[in-house]
Amino acid sequence: MSRRKIAAGNWKLNLSFEEAMQLGRSIANQEIPSGVEVILAAAFPYLKSLGEMAVPVQNLHIAAQNCSEHAKGAFTGEVAASMLNSIQISHVLIGHSERREYFGDTDNVLCMKLQQAFDNEINPIYCCGEPLRIRKSGDHVSYVKTQLEETIFKLDQDQFAKLVLAYEPIWAIGTGETASSEQAQEMHAAIREMISNQYSQELADGIPILYGGSVKPANAKELFSQKDVDGGLVGGASLKSDSFIEIINSF
Ligand code: PGA
Repeated sequence: MSRRKIAAGNWKLNLSFEEAMQLGRSIANQEIPSGVEVILAAAFPYLKSLGEMAVPVQNLHIAAQNCSEHAKGAFTGEVAASMLNSIQISHVLIGHSERREYFGDTDNVLCMKLQQAFDNEINPIYCCGEPLRIRKSGDHVSYVKTQLEETIFKLDQDQFAKLVLAYEPIWAIGTGETASSEQAQEMHAAIREMISNQYSQELADGIPILYGGSVKPANAKELFSQKDVDGGLVGGASLKSDSFIEIINSF
């Protein structure tokens, strides 16, 4: 079956406002290939302006990189999913390994964040993936399965159908070392089988699963041509319009 194809850029803690707007505009001015969705995950202060810029562009969406697990209240410095909704933001990254590792996003916190996103009609892009130690031990498939069981497999079917998944082996993030297309395909197929066992074949067949970890123009085509790889979540190579546009055109 044909699934949505997605190129998502994760700008992380980078770019000034002017740089972000310029990069966003140069992507918005491109002809996005038909059937491809582009998502840009930017810093909170830039979201409203980027969102307004993206409104007239078909298949371009803006994402937050995080949201609070709380609905509202005395949580200084946090940004609620309802706030994102109030500026028409459609997507949010949840479970990125950097959030898990540096900011204490435990499975329980991720479940709360997922709930906040759904309560406020924001589509989560849920990230999973194993560290190098686990990859070396050969237990990567069961490690990722546990990540899913503790978080998104607790969702009901209707919520689950709204997810975009991203498999991001931690050892490939920002390291220049990409998983081989065989390694990516193996894990994506395994994840799809887990979804089929947990929910249904139909749901498993419909859900986009992106690969993340040192995706660049030189490897995007090969990765995206794998049967179960529906696009990429791109960090470093999404910070330059030339390289990200090349990636968008790699489907
Ligand atoms: P990278 O980051 O492309 O720089 O490896 C990917 C990510 O963290 O989403």
